[in-house]
Amino acid sequence: MTILVTGGAGFIGSNFVLDWLATCSEPVVNLDKLTYAGNLENLAELEGNPRHIFVQGDIGDTALVESLMREHQPRAVLNFAAESHVDRSIHGPEAFIQTNIVGTFRLLEAVRSWWGQLPADGKVRFRFLHVSTDEVYGSLEKTAPAFTESHSYEPNSPYSASKASSDHLVRAYHHTYGLPVLTTNCSNNYGPYHFPEKLIPLVIVNALSGKPLPVYGDGQQIRDWLYVKDHCAAIRRVLEAGVCGETYNVGGWNEKANLDIVTEVCALLDELRPREDGVHYRMQITHVPDRPGHDRRYAIDARKIERELHWRPAETFATGIRKTVQWYLDHPQWVANVQSGSYRDWVAQNYEGRPA
Ligand SMILES: NC(=O)c1ccc[n+]([C@@H]2O[C@H](COP(=O)([O-])OP(=O)(O)OC[C@H]3O[C@@H](n4cnc5c(N)ncnc54)[C@H](O)[C@@H]3O)[C@@H](O)[C@H]2O)c1
Repeated sequence: MTILVTGGAGFIGSNFVLDWLATCSEPVVNLDKLTYAGNLENLAELEGNPRHIFVQGDIGDTALVESLMREHQPRAVLNFAAESHVDRSIHGPEAFIQTNIVGTFRLLEAVRSWWGQLPADGKVRFRFLHVSTDEVYGSLEKTAPAFTESHSYEPNSPYSASKASSDHLVRAYHHTYGLPVLTTNCSNNYGPYHFPEKLIPLVIVNALSGKPLPVYGDGQQIRDWLYVKDHCAAIRRVLEAGVCGETYNVGGWNEKANLDIVTEVCALLDELRPREDGVHYRMQITHVPDRPGHDRRYAIDARKIERELHWRPAETFATGIRKTVQWYLDHPQWVANVQSGSYRDWVAQNYEGRPA
């Protein structure tokens, strides 16, 4: 038995692959294009591990996906690959349309064509798990109930609109062709290997290098936050026991305003790595103009996955954020390689010229 993971060199995908191989004997075929967000250094500890088969390639490359399916006969495909940064989607939506919509469509087509030729029991056992976001539901008023799985889709950014489109395609492939799909819609993740363009790692990295800590607008945008390893556990659980055609909201029961996140990270840094001049890191906070169309609030109602699949996050925000800050303090070289861009040479340095 094998699983095929796409986007497994990104933030959540690499955490998933590491956790999977640490807890399970099944090999992973990891298909990743290695965009700026893909970092094979995240998977350095898997070097030489025969259960990790890395393939650099695009989910939109039908011939490649079909050949991987034929060669490895995975019992499941888990689709993490995406363009994932809202700000980048505002400045350049094209890549989001290409990967998140066209790429997911082509991946579904390649998988469907292979799946269609399986014997009946293989067809029933197979799973296509699509990893999506709570941002597809749009923005909530401050006192409105949290998003349930039946909340209408009202995506507001090119990123969330492209993810919403991919969710619809996945749903349609179940209803039209019977492909056994599962979809998870998760809130904001944080944890190790998070690319420092996103809020929490950006704050940690900028704080330590004495740079301003940018907060959009009034900083009162509310998000639910989930420690990435909890998200990975939820995905494993949905893969194991989720009902085909169903969607599962995944969240941390932890709504916080961005400004509160930033001040909590600053307080942890004050404790764990105080500034030499004794000044609090929060003094580096700088309010910058808000992102256009910035959603005010997302909140996840994660009762369905708890009720039906008995999953709940293991970490509280207090425990998860402490682990995260400590991880960044313990991995200055990873941060330096991302900042200098040298993480992109990792493939050449570590993989090229090796026997296949
Ligand atoms: N980060 C979050 O807070 C969050 C929350 C909920 C859902 N999600 C979803 O989870 C998934 C993973 O998010 P992430 O934060 O790890 O993203 P990321 O940007 O860190 O990683 C994305 C990975 O996909 C790869 N990739 C991009 N385009 C590709 C293509 N065409 N073919 C193959 N690989 C490609 C990249 O190289 C990278 O390794 C995404 O689908 C995202 O929408 C993320």
